[in-house]
Amino acid sequence: MHTHAIILAAGKGTRMKSEKPKVLHEICGKSMLSYVIDNVKDAGIERIAVITGYKSDEVIKSVEDSTINTFIQSEQLGTGHAVMQAAEFIDDNSYVIILCGDAPLVGADTINKLCSYTYDNKKEAVVLSARLDNPYGYGRIVRNSKNEFERIVEQKDATEEEKRITEINSGVYCFLGKALKLALNNLTNNNKQNEYYLTDTIEYLLSGGYNIGVIEEDNCDIIKAVNDRCQLAELDKFMRKKINEKWMLSGVSMLDPDTTYIANDAVFEEDITLYPGVIIEKGSRIGKGCVITSGSIIKNSEIGKNCYIQNSVITDSVVGNNVKIGPYAHLRPKSRLSDNVKIGNFVEIKNSSFGENSKSSHLTYIGDAEIGENVNLGCGVVFVNYDGKNKYLTIVEDDCFVGCNVNLVAPVRVKKGAYIAAGSTITDDVEEYSLAIARSRQVNKENWVKNK
Ligand code: UD1
Ligand code: CA
Repeated sequence: MHTHAIILAAGKGTRMKSEKPKVLHEICGKSMLSYVIDNVKDAGIERIAVITGYKSDEVIKSVEDSTINTFIQSEQLGTGHAVMQAAEFIDDNSYVIILCGDAPLVGADTINKLCSYTYDNKKEAVVLSARLDNPYGYGRIVRNSKNEFERIVEQKDATEEEKRITEINSGVYCFLGKALKLALNNLTNNNKQNEYYLTDTIEYLLSGGYNIGVIEEDNCDIIKAVNDRCQLAELDKFMRKKINEKWMLSGVSMLDPDTTYIANDAVFEEDITLYPGVIIEKGSRIGKGCVITSGSIIKNSEIGKNCYIQNSVITDSVVGNNVKIGPYAHLRPKSRLSDNVKIGNFVEIKNSSFGENSKSSHLTYIGDAEIGENVNLGCGVVFVNYDGKNKYLTIVEDDCFVGCNVNLVAPVRVKKGAYIAAGSTITDDVEEYSLAIARSRQVNKENWVKNK
């Protein structure tokens, strides 16, 4: 059966108290809208429209998919009004699934179940419902004395008795195109919020003798929508648990899964151990055998096999195999570490590469540098890369030894095998296999203290 989907995403999300459009808030590192789009695609639906309004450009940009049609609802006059903006997208004789951009967990199985039920029973509209212990905020499914579906009443319009109904409208529907269009053309905004409610289409179609249905989703967690940040946290927790379970079953040990935060798109190999409080953000890949300890945050970075990362922050970087990092190291964007590198405590690296077997064990700043293989950087080395205006490159070739407390004032090159004496400030290139000392000589004044 030919089906298309309309996703409602025009609202600001006032209750989020945020500049950011609600549907762009993230659950485990992925926007709610992206989840809904992916769920629809997973259900095999190819024709998709998204209704945008509040910060429309931002929402459209986030979608980054030319196959998706977007329609703008410039004033947010309600969910029914939102669907009207896509009237030309709706085929009379096709079915259309409507979903809300703030309900990211409604998966492909549920979407398919709703569609099949609609086609198989030749319905013109079917609503997906669920029973919630706390139905507050949702539209309620009102049934007559024969338990037949009658209409949907919004929280704000409900009587005290209706508010006690625990069967709620999930906000997911399947309509036959022409029935939907007819009902939309007859919507009014005669309610507490003066909005054109999509939910009112049901009552209209029922009164016109159309064949309308409701099916209940048993897993009431997956239909939950996000209206405020408490609900965002609740869904985040739900999704986090799912993601963590998936990776534990694939060979990742988590000492405390409740405090392990893994982005939706992060990828892990086997035999990895994550300590409590580890955060793996989006765009990250972690290699086999890695151990990552508490407080580490890894974002958009690739980590090789058998690395040991202690309490460190790594962003937009690439790390080879058998690398040790931390405790308390900071790899800023474009750090590239080859195999067997060691980065110790309080080392900060930015836009720099380290060749194999090189080390910087303590208290060092490395910015805009190319470091060769088997290089040792002593404690307290500073790559002086910035003159207040521009940044410059430092090159330290293979097999060099840079003593403690050395300043390398860029641009400068330390050639292969050179040694630099501790405490030197290097402003000129150092030739291969030579020793550079750049500090004033020590003078000892005998008995100076007694005589002063
Ligand atoms: C809506 C339903 C309610 C249901 C609930 C499920 C209506 C009238 N009510 O209520 O029955 O239980 O969803 O979560 O439909 N939107 C627009 N344009 C608008 C208004 C909303 O695009 O003018 C979008 C929002 O961006 C959001 C979605 O529609 O993604 C739902 O809007 P929201 O205001 O959150 O509706 P609810 O009050 O939650
Ligand atoms: Ca909502």
